[in-house]
Amino acid sequence: MLGLALVLIVLPASVFLLVKFAKADGDFTLLSRGPPKREEIEDKVVWITGASRGIGEDLAKQFAGLGARLILSARNVAELERVKGELSGKNAPHGVEILPLDLASTEESLCEAVKKAESFFSGAGVDYMVHNAAYERPKSRALDVTTEGLQATFQVNVMGTITLTRLLAPFMLERKRGHFIVMSSAAGKNPAPGQAVYAATKFALGGYFHTLRSELCQNGIKVTVICPGPIDTSRSSGATEPQQSTLSENRVSSERCARLSIIAATHGLKEAWISKQPVLLVMYLAQYAPSVAFWLLDKIGAKRIEAAANKKSTYSWNLILGKNKSA
Ligand SMILES: NC(=O)c1ccc[n+]([C@@H]2O[C@H](COP(=O)([O-])OP(=O)(O)OC[C@H]3O[C@@H](n4cnc5c(N)ncnc54)[C@H](OP(=O)(O)O)[C@@H]3O)[C@@H](O)[C@H]2O)c1
Repeated sequence: MLGLALVLIVLPASVFLLVKFAKADGDFTLLSRGPPKREEIEDKVVWITGASRGIGEDLAKQFAGLGARLILSARNVAELERVKGELSGKNAPHGVEILPLDLASTEESLCEAVKKAESFFSGAGVDYMVHNAAYERPKSRALDVTTEGLQATFQVNVMGTITLTRLLAPFMLERKRGHFIVMSSAAGKNPAPGQAVYAATKFALGGYFHTLRSELCQNGIKVTVICPGPIDTSRSSGATEPQQSTLSENRVSSERCARLSIIAATHGLKEAWISKQPVLLVMYLAQYAPSVAFWLLDKIGAKRIEAAANKKSTYSWNLILGKNKSA
């Protein structure tokens, strides 16, 4: 009797879950949620850093489609104007402001930027701060990183991002509402061979923002940390280098990444993972069986560096399964 129940219920359910997991492009909690909640976004002021291309550009387009009032930031004003141009009209009836910003600039400049952002839309104030900008992330061995690269990456990804948060949060606290959406990375959850400094900055962001939420959630401040794995940003109009299709096959599109990020935020998730396999599997292992994940990543670390040097996919199953060809 028990055997029959196993065959009829447990086995098909396990197969169903396995197939679902194999095809998933996000964690199960995230994928169980419905579409983005328009009522959480409509008329809200959403400030996006790194809005000049890639995921930031797609976030801007989708927030606009949900009726947000947008503040777009990055260093390249011409690209921000392009994005604004593509948003104007029916996509963004509620307004778009451009706020040029260099996260590596002085605290004084960041303070000015915060005051300006707060003053837009007749002083409505920022409801959502989307920390999306990041310093370039070429792959290299942990020991090959230069002091300049180390400082520049931390300056933009950590110092600038946290400083902006420290300067903006008091305005949000006064209004008793505000939501930080932080684009971290799978590299902010797992070791990421070839991306040691980038991973260090994303781990730092996770540490800061999860702690910030624990301190301020009783005062109306929300935090959603998004951890994408490989994302295909080649279709973004501002993409600087088109990616080879062979390298894009394991990637989630940046449109889908933006949509899932907005779902995570509007459904109040504290953290969300966005990735196809095999990175999603590694993220689950790192969370629930860290020893297995560390063993696996120790096994593939050197091969991944080699794959990056040979411009091969650094996210393929072959790295895990140990096939040398096209690692
Ligand atoms: N793409 C992926 O596979 C992937 C995977 C995991 C996580 N993520 C994360 O998702 C976010 C977006 O990724 P993406 O691939 O779309 O990035 P991207 O194409 O490299 O764009 C980076 C954005 O940040 C801006 N930026 C760079 N330096 C800046 C600075 N000093 N001050 C202000 N803005 C600056 C850039 O604009 P300007 O050059 O005009 O300043 C650009 O808009 C990043 O946080 C990234 O770490 C991406």
